[in-house]
Amino acid sequence: MRQSIRPGAPLMNSRQWAEENNMSKLIPILAVMFSASAFANTAEGEYIARIADCVACHTQKNGDEMAGGKRFQTPLGDIFSTNITPDRQQGIGAYSYEEFDRAVRQGIARDGHYLYPAMPYPSYEKMKEEDIRSLYDYFMHGVKPSAQKNQASEIPWYFSPRWPLRIWNGLFTETAAGTAVAQDPQQNRIMRGKYIVEGPGHCGACHTPRGIAQQEKAYDSADPVYLSGAMIDGWFAPSLRDLTLADDELQALLHRGRSRHSAVAGPMSEVITQSTQYLTEADRRSVSAYLLSLNSDKAHGDRVVSSERAKTKNASGNALYFRYCSTCHAIDGKGTDYNVPSLVNNAAVNAEDPANLIKVIAWGAETPVTKGNIPYKMPAYQGEISDEQLRDVVNYVRGAWGNHVEPISEQKIKDVLENKH
Ligand code: HEC
Ligand code: HEC
Ligand code: HEC
Repeated sequence: MRQSIRPGAPLMNSRQWAEENNMSKLIPILAVMFSASAFANTAEGEYIARIADCVACHTQKNGDEMAGGKRFQTPLGDIFSTNITPDRQQGIGAYSYEEFDRAVRQGIARDGHYLYPAMPYPSYEKMKEEDIRSLYDYFMHGVKPSAQKNQASEIPWYFSPRWPLRIWNGLFTETAAGTAVAQDPQQNRIMRGKYIVEGPGHCGACHTPRGIAQQEKAYDSADPVYLSGAMIDGWFAPSLRDLTLADDELQALLHRGRSRHSAVAGPMSEVITQSTQYLTEADRRSVSAYLLSLNSDKAHGDRVVSSERAKTKNASGNALYFRYCSTCHAIDGKGTDYNVPSLVNNAAVNAEDPANLIKVIAWGAETPVTKGNIPYKMPAYQGEISDEQLRDVVNYVRGAWGNHVEPISEQKIKDVLENKH
């Protein structure tokens, strides 16, 4: 996916950037183009668009920003996100505020058709009206219009009538949660975090399991299934209810894509690059406070399945680890602070479903791109080692240094790597 509104060269400070881009000459021109008040309004909306990550889904690789065209697989067939730039013909330039609000919070387009829930309106439904207003100002005045055409969905005609979606909505979406204000500052922080995660942040879209109709099984932390972990495009988005990350580690991860002991790979990288790195410090603290408030006792003890078999000797895996991994992840599995993640008590290593662990070793990984941080790379081993060896090294790290998860079979490796995401 194109990431053109992410910051430029990571190590340049803003003054260097301004010089490089000849800002001194540009400023007077910009001042004429935007009145100061238009600037102020769209900045708020731009922030909301960031935390709601509209760009991630509404921008196609090499396409114009927010001009849609990204493909989504649904059980019925593929659909495409649409052009939401202010272009009047191809985009949403003709949307009134009320129509925009109805699309974002209720999933109903301007012409009255129901949107597929690939658009996360069941979460956006919880967003405050003032935030929707700021978003609208930003989309109408802060986003560059694009005449990129929308693509028709590939859903077979007999499924195409969108009326079943109305029934879907009646069954599965909830009404907006009330917003109460507490006296205790920590409580307020948790409530703000809850708002971001459950509303604009739509974290449940990946971290909450889905039911038979593809609906997320819950949209609110009152239900223990909410954020309890789910497969998404062949990756496992782990439970956020029993994180073993400390508060500062979690905040650093959301901000910089890596922290002292951890890093992420796969679809979460993009979430950090496009969205969470922009959270203000206060909002980052709130998200962390909320997520850690969900922690069950599980997090502090037996999150991993103990197994006798995992503890049996694995000479091949041990040798492979020393040959291929220990230079970076260290002999004790603890990596290097801030650079190479620790594999001890690591969510990807200890997940019941080893998909992420297998993919990262086979295809390599890179820490998410964030402002001011050079990404660190891990090499890809597919082709270098056989599936059998891959199994051995996977089982080694899943059984070493106090990790003790069920070993996996070679067939599991083959199954996971078939899914090319
Ligand atoms: C997880 C992916 C995803 C995210 C995030 C997302 N959208 Fe969408 N959106 C879609 C898809 C897919 C469609 C097309 C659905 C359809 O055709 O039924 C869509 C459709 C829309 C439409 C209807 C446009 C039309 O063609 O009339 C609007 C408006 C819209 N999105 C606005 C937004 C805004 C604003 C945000 C951020 C607050 C956002 N979307 C975030 C996936 C997403
Ligand atoms: C597009 C899907 C997707 C969305 C949306 C998403 N996540 Fe994730 N998340 C993942 C995946 C996949 C992983 C596993 C990454 C790995 O194994 O390296 C992950 C991992 C994480 C982790 C690391 C857990 C650990 O113990 O190491 C945290 C924390 C997290 N996500 C928080 C969030 C928050 C907060 C949001 C909402 C702002 C969010 N995620 C939205 C897919 C997603
Ligand atoms: C050249 C240094 C290097 C080597 C060699 C290396 N890694 Fe990595 N590894 C990294 C870096 C850097 C990351 C962080 C990338 C990211 O964001 O996931 C990483 C990430 C990982 C992760 C994902 C952690 C997470 O939380 O998402 C796992 C698992 C892993 N490595 C295991 C291994 C294994 C097993 C080997 C040997 C087969 C290996 N690595 C070899 C540098 C290395």
